[in-house]
Amino acid sequence: MSQPVPSDSLWGRVPRLAYGADYSPEQWDPQVWRDDVRLMRAAGVTLVSLGIFAWSWLEPEQDRFDFDGLDEVIGLLHAGGVAVDLATPTAAPPLWFARAHPESLPVTVDGQRLAPGSRQSFCASSPAYRERAALITARLAERYGDHPAVVMWHIGNEYGNANAHCWCETSAAAFRHWLRARHGDLNTLNSRWGTAFWGQRYSDWAQVAPPRTSVGSLNPALRLDFLRFCDAEQLACYRAERDIVRAHSPGRPVTTNFMTGNFAWADYWAWAAEVDVVANDHYLTAADPHRTAELAFTADLTRGLAAGRPWLLMEHSTSAVQWQPRNTAKAPGEMRRNSLSHVARGADGALFFQWRQSASGAEMWHSAMVPHGGEDTRIHREVQRLGAEIGALAEVAGSVCEPAEAAVVWDYDAWWALELPDRPSIDMTYRDEIRAWHRALWSAGGACDVVPATATADELARYKLLLAPSHYAATRETAAAWEAYAASGGHLVVGPFSGVVDHDDRVHPGPYPGVLRELLGLRVDEFLPLAAGEQVALGDGSTGRVWAERVLPDPGTRVEARFATGPAAGDPAVLRADRGAGAVRYCATRFTDDSLRRLLTDWRAAAGCAPPPPGAGDGVETVRRRSPGGASWLFVVNHTSAPVAVPCTGRELLTGVRADGVVTVAAGDVAVVRES
Ligand code: GAL
Ligand code: ZN
Repeated sequence: MSQPVPSDSLWGRVPRLAYGADYSPEQWDPQVWRDDVRLMRAAGVTLVSLGIFAWSWLEPEQDRFDFDGLDEVIGLLHAGGVAVDLATPTAAPPLWFARAHPESLPVTVDGQRLAPGSRQSFCASSPAYRERAALITARLAERYGDHPAVVMWHIGNEYGNANAHCWCETSAAAFRHWLRARHGDLNTLNSRWGTAFWGQRYSDWAQVAPPRTSVGSLNPALRLDFLRFCDAEQLACYRAERDIVRAHSPGRPVTTNFMTGNFAWADYWAWAAEVDVVANDHYLTAADPHRTAELAFTADLTRGLAAGRPWLLMEHSTSAVQWQPRNTAKAPGEMRRNSLSHVARGADGALFFQWRQSASGAEMWHSAMVPHGGEDTRIHREVQRLGAEIGALAEVAGSVCEPAEAAVVWDYDAWWALELPDRPSIDMTYRDEIRAWHRALWSAGGACDVVPATATADELARYKLLLAPSHYAATRETAAAWEAYAASGGHLVVGPFSGVVDHDDRVHPGPYPGVLRELLGLRVDEFLPLAAGEQVALGDGSTGRVWAERVLPDPGTRVEARFATGPAAGDPAVLRADRGAGAVRYCATRFTDDSLRRLLTDWRAAAGCAPPPPGAGDGVETVRRRSPGGASWLFVVNHTSAPVAVPCTGRELLTGVRADGVVTVAAGDVAVVRES
């Protein structure tokens, strides 16, 4: 993590915010390509991700390459002024490959070899897959590495989406290799994994196998390392292609599209270090009542992964998707609010899946920039309007979001370890809890950055309030950084069941909460998970859920609230201790949304955070981006059904009505003002 470094443009040759989509010309006749370019120009499209699933188009039979179509399309796009984010097509190995290499197909946890016929039908450890993927990548990079239309490279697609984990023999051998590198010898592995339990001690590496379906529970440390190994294999596939592309196409940024809001198997802090531009795909779940807050969280997380620098929204949808049970359409204006919320939160562009809606295939009912009905449709008219607006916001490119005063910790080791089987409560989930804390700040109008558990005290020093709602697996390094953070004036709030195990899921020695015990100034005597749906009352009027604990404060630690009901009735529920110039708080339960909002509002104020900007909160987002030269832009996104007035002076770039230092934003509208 480093300070945000503004840049002129992430993709140098597109000196503005990017607007566009995935483009798959192989689905269409060449006549349609011409119409596509005409429509792209009219819609303000500046960048397309080209050929993501085009492997069987480019190499219809093994070693027979045919680039004629792609040559023509790239030429047409270039002539039309549309830049290309050229994809390696390796997310969709052709059927000839699967037939020649059936051993490359993934195997399930039950030992079933999966049939080809979808995308990502490969095992990430397969040498044959890696070899053929490298070959097609090299052919593309050699051919188009210097092409003036190609401004960026898109490796694969959403790594792990369909094939994150594989239990085949090839993967098993690679897993053993990976474990040797991580743990060294078998004795160390036995000790770290605690294989003495249930007599699971390994006496030979050949006995070590992926966590396949067995008669009962498996060793959690084995499961945890397997998750890490599978992620590392996916990342290795990405890196191999990236390095080939870099060799042939120097100076052009290389990326791949993350799914930071949805994927539970990729440690995106590790991935972020490997891409030149952080790019994210974001899809709303239509039935999610918190989807607007969820979008804000995912965008903040993605910006965190980009270390504050501009990032790219690589995919979202113009309207409905096709993969949910009921694919409700976005309401008029909703797409625009979604896209501009991402831009407000640091995206230097907004791209969609996909340009033209497919006439057939698995995603034929997924919305696109050009619907089946063509240009004279509600969706395409909104697409054109948004394109013009993104064009009008060009000057925002390269600016960065104003850092928040509060930050929340997001950590994959803590997440993966917490949600393994055989934990105290299946309600003790990770992602939802982090989102709930972020949402509590968001709904009250407060900004919140997202930081890794590896952030140093120096990196944390810019935050007044640091939140660790759910940090089950914790290292001593993290504890030390948080201690130094608090000592130098920061306010830290830690949620329950935190700090208790290490990265091999071994309980830290001594009383709970393990490595955080001294910092927090308390001892947890007993964990007391609640029954399904059970709530507990606290003396301060808050309501707890999911979890309670019997906590014993150290001398000097103050009790701010006690449990009034439930298994810990009478015991401390919220505790606080002074630490140097700062303070630490501990919560022994999880809270309902209402309670969390009230508590976080108090804790923000106690930490010295400025009050939320006027007008912000309850469905109105106000976000500021700043350029290195001192210019700033205020984005006001009004998700509510009433107009909102926000104090602001400057020149409006997008809608809104200015009068007397106030910008009025109509219901469902978005305003962007260059401030003066
Ligand atoms: C993404 C994927 C796209 C498309 C889209 C549909 O996950 O990268 O190729 O499938 O979902 O929503
Ligand atoms: Zn495999």
